[in-house]
Amino acid sequence: MRIAILTGAGVSAESGLGTFRDKDGLWTQYDLSEVATPQGYARNPDKVLDFYNMRRRNAAGAIANEAHRALARLENDAQFDVAVITQNIDDLHEQGGGRNVLHIHGSIFEALCSGCGHVWPRRDDLSTAEACPACTTIGTVRPNIVWFGEIPYLMPEATAYIEECDLFVSIGTSGTVYPAAGFVEIAKGAGAQTLELNLEASGNRAFDTVRLGAATEIVVDWVAEIRGV
Ligand code: OAD
Repeated sequence: MRIAILTGAGVSAESGLGTFRDKDGLWTQYDLSEVATPQGYARNPDKVLDFYNMRRRNAAGAIANEAHRALARLENDAQFDVAVITQNIDDLHEQGGGRNVLHIHGSIFEALCSGCGHVWPRRDDLSTAEACPACTTIGTVRPNIVWFGEIPYLMPEATAYIEECDLFVSIGTSGTVYPAAGFVEIAKGAGAQTLELNLEASGNRAFDTVRLGAATEIVVDWVAEIRGV
């Protein structure tokens, strides 16, 4: 059975990483247009780098939870062909043992030169005073994160998995940001079963089944059920 899994901030919430749109979510504390758009970066790069330096430190201290580990068990079960398509920029799926993880919104642990496009691994803070290691330009360094108005990564690969899956599962995402929000319709249109696992329902009627609860409970239960263990 082929399973395409879309994850969002809710799967990492119990690892201590904040979501965006819940009460106390990041977008209730920060203006999205200032810190998550190319225009905001052009206006105030120091502010944008500070915001992501904080998020990188938080992500570096986070530990994968039972939901990440359960999804890795599913991936490693030979009965299934699984792809995890994540909107998350943390590395908790990989930390939990996941191997086939598509980061469509990029990674907080990579830097990108907005001048030459060079991408390199990065665990430390970024600064506007530093030079790109490839083209040596100063002031072009940014996190390798897809901002609003930019095109998500790996869309052909993600779409291929979604169009060919038997089951599409959405976990811990509000389903408000496109193109990810439209994946369920693509899967359903291609004949897949569709399941939402979330703390609060997205309200999208393209889901055949909705199960509500905390990811560390409902994802673990669902993975055990489908694996028959
Ligand atoms: P949101 O903050 O929009 O939604 C988080 C979802 O997780 C909600 O549906 C919550 O009900 C659910 N949730 C919260 N705690 C949970 C828990 N313990 N277990 C299960 N579910 C839980 O976050 P995303 O949908 O991931 O993009 O946001 C999508 C994109 O918007 C992000 O990738 C980011 C953001 O702006 C960019 O920055 C480009």
